[in-house]
Amino acid sequence: MITLGIETSCDETACAVLENADQLRSNIIASSLARHRPFGGIVPEIASRHTLESIVPVYQEALRKAKITQEDLSLVSVTYGPGLIGSLLVGVSFAKALSFSVGVPLIGVNHLHAHIYANFIGTRLPRSPFIGLVVSGGHTSVVFCKDGSFRELATTRDDACGEAFDKVAKMLGLGFPGGPVIEKMAKKGDPTRITFRCGQFKDNFDFSFSGIKTAVLYYIQKCQNIKKEIPDICASFQKAVVSDIVRKTITLAIQKGVTYIAVGGGVSANSYLRKMLSKEGAERGIIVLLPPREHSLDNGAMIARHGYALYKAGKRSDMRLTAVPGLGM
Ligand code: KG4
Ligand code: ZN
Repeated sequence: MITLGIETSCDETACAVLENADQLRSNIIASSLARHRPFGGIVPEIASRHTLESIVPVYQEALRKAKITQEDLSLVSVTYGPGLIGSLLVGVSFAKALSFSVGVPLIGVNHLHAHIYANFIGTRLPRSPFIGLVVSGGHTSVVFCKDGSFRELATTRDDACGEAFDKVAKMLGLGFPGGPVIEKMAKKGDPTRITFRCGQFKDNFDFSFSGIKTAVLYYIQKCQNIKKEIPDICASFQKAVVSDIVRKTITLAIQKGVTYIAVGGGVSANSYLRKMLSKEGAERGIIVLLPPREHSLDNGAMIARHGYALYKAGKRSDMRLTAVPGLGM
């Protein structure tokens, strides 16, 4: 069975060809990131225009690389939310037209669920139930995953963690996106130099990254030599955010009595988060699953993998499928 996965929720236009659950035959990604950089963030109109220009060539390249033709497709899987309305509509419209013209089933996929499924390309699903952790530019969620259903246990009350990385990098004049450059700077800094803290709540494990962002801003304002301090600020900020995510996720996993945590989303490319989660998990007998770095960021392979699982569970979409920008967990 050959599944085409289409991902167009933000600045990437991506198509992947997956054979059954385990063989990724191609995974093509075109990004408009360079066009957004001068603006310090994603400009939705630029993203959707780029998606419109790229979707056909990216699709053709995915087929070529997989050495298949359109007639070999068995299923079309596409992200229908959450994300930017313009970009999502391009992907969903393309997927519907393709499914109709080739005469194969269509399946709409939730981008957040797919980030968790990025861990299962080429492998089986872990024993159910397990905990999913989605850490991206738009979301921070700890999810209870059971038999294909998803229940949110904790989420952010304000900024997403990737967004906090992006905003802190912007304040430090490090450019966009912030995650990779903060990670790089942090390697040269002392994470114990400055004490930053993330927001806490009395009765739950929700996240808040808005306060720490302001704390960094105040610190920068009273800095004498900002250039010299950048590595320590990055290391201390990264440590505070990662410790908060690790502590809350592991505590929830213990409370729920699960053995596995499956992590996904752009921030899961962060090596300090990967190291700390794996270490803290191992100390408590919890296995932390992390996708290969290229599957942490947005891609079509995870959409194909999740679409395949939904299809096997008997799910189908029809021509009424449309983009849902505010789709939740
Ligand atoms: O999942 P993703 O590619 O797109 C969304 O669905 O949002 O995540 C993008 C986010 C950005 O905020 C980016 O700064 C962050 O992931 N990110 C990182 C790293 N690489 C990307 N954050 C921390 N460390 C990284 N190495
Ligand atoms: Zn994403």
